[in-house]
Amino acid sequence: MRARIIGTGSYLPEEIRTNYDLEKMVDTSHDWIVARTGIVERRIAAEGECTSDMATKAAQRAMDMAGVTAEDIDLIVMGTITGDFPWPATSCLVQAQLGAKNAHAYDISAACSGFLYALSNANDFITSGRGKRALVIGAEKFSHIVDWTDRNTCILFGDGAGAVVLEGQESEAGVLSTHLYSDGNYWELLHQPGFGARYPASVDGIEAKLPFLRMEGNEVFKVAVRSLTKVSKEALKTNGYTSADVAQFIPHQANLRILEATTKRLGLTDEQSFINVHKYGNTSGATIPIAIDEANRQGLLKSGDLILSAAFGGGFTWGSTLIRW
Ligand code: ACO
Repeated sequence: MRARIIGTGSYLPEEIRTNYDLEKMVDTSHDWIVARTGIVERRIAAEGECTSDMATKAAQRAMDMAGVTAEDIDLIVMGTITGDFPWPATSCLVQAQLGAKNAHAYDISAACSGFLYALSNANDFITSGRGKRALVIGAEKFSHIVDWTDRNTCILFGDGAGAVVLEGQESEAGVLSTHLYSDGNYWELLHQPGFGARYPASVDGIEAKLPFLRMEGNEVFKVAVRSLTKVSKEALKTNGYTSADVAQFIPHQANLRILEATTKRLGLTDEQSFINVHKYGNTSGATIPIAIDEANRQGLLKSGDLILSAAFGGGFTWGSTLIRW
């Protein structure tokens, strides 16, 4: 029994915020952003448009492609750190919006690795025989936790959602392996200080900008490249493959320099590597399912192809998966 992706979907908000728009907001330039990150523009959710709304649209598109209804879904698991509320889980809101009354639903907090963590959970759920179908979602509304006056961080992030439907099948195709890691010693390099138990909500906290994300970009960069490379190699080695066997590498889209450094260390060519970070920036847990959906709809993922994916994010968390399409 393998858990196979039978449908993909994504949703990007309409509003496009370009680097030129950012030039009017902070002391930066289009050229600097492109040179350092490869990002040209990102999407911004509309007023009142929540993570659950974007996730529901992506999930519905994945289910439409798969030809299944909401009632066919046994599990909804979503990677997000920008849910509608601290609780309940945003996946419960998605369940309600979809009418997926036979599914249980929960969120996973693993930042940019959230989708791969969710995929790993859903894969275990299906291959252990607990259920037949799962909706695996990555959805984020980073625009509300970004400090739009901080040029070090605001240039990097965007909003969006992606989803896949996983189904248990007696097949050679499907998820071949997942590898997940964390190292909480690095939590401070990438985090959102407020408001939780450590810094409860307060007026002082708002003035200190605690609800906005904080990042040590340089340090994150170095550990990200090292970890993405190592965990990708592990996925290949575990399954007895090399980089030459990979049809598409679909990594977390953090920024172009991280992607290029990782791709080079893995010995992959540009043709093997799927990149869309220039259009959407870093949508955290949503980048991988959005990229999988785009690659799929562009006809780049063919039956029997080996698809390698890897992610790295706050926590630190990181992981990889190898999928036979
Ligand atoms: N526009 C113009 N100048 C800027 C900007 C900006 N938007 N941001 C920073 N600078 C300046 C800095 O102030 C600094 O100036 P100084 O030398 O006078 O002090 C200079 O540019 C260099 O700053 P660095 O931080 O050293 O620039 P760096 O080359 O490291 O690029 C970046 C910064 C793009 C954030 C890089 O570190 C990076 O990509 N890090 C990875 C972080 C990341 O992707 N995080 C996402 C979450 S984790 C993940 O998804 C993997």
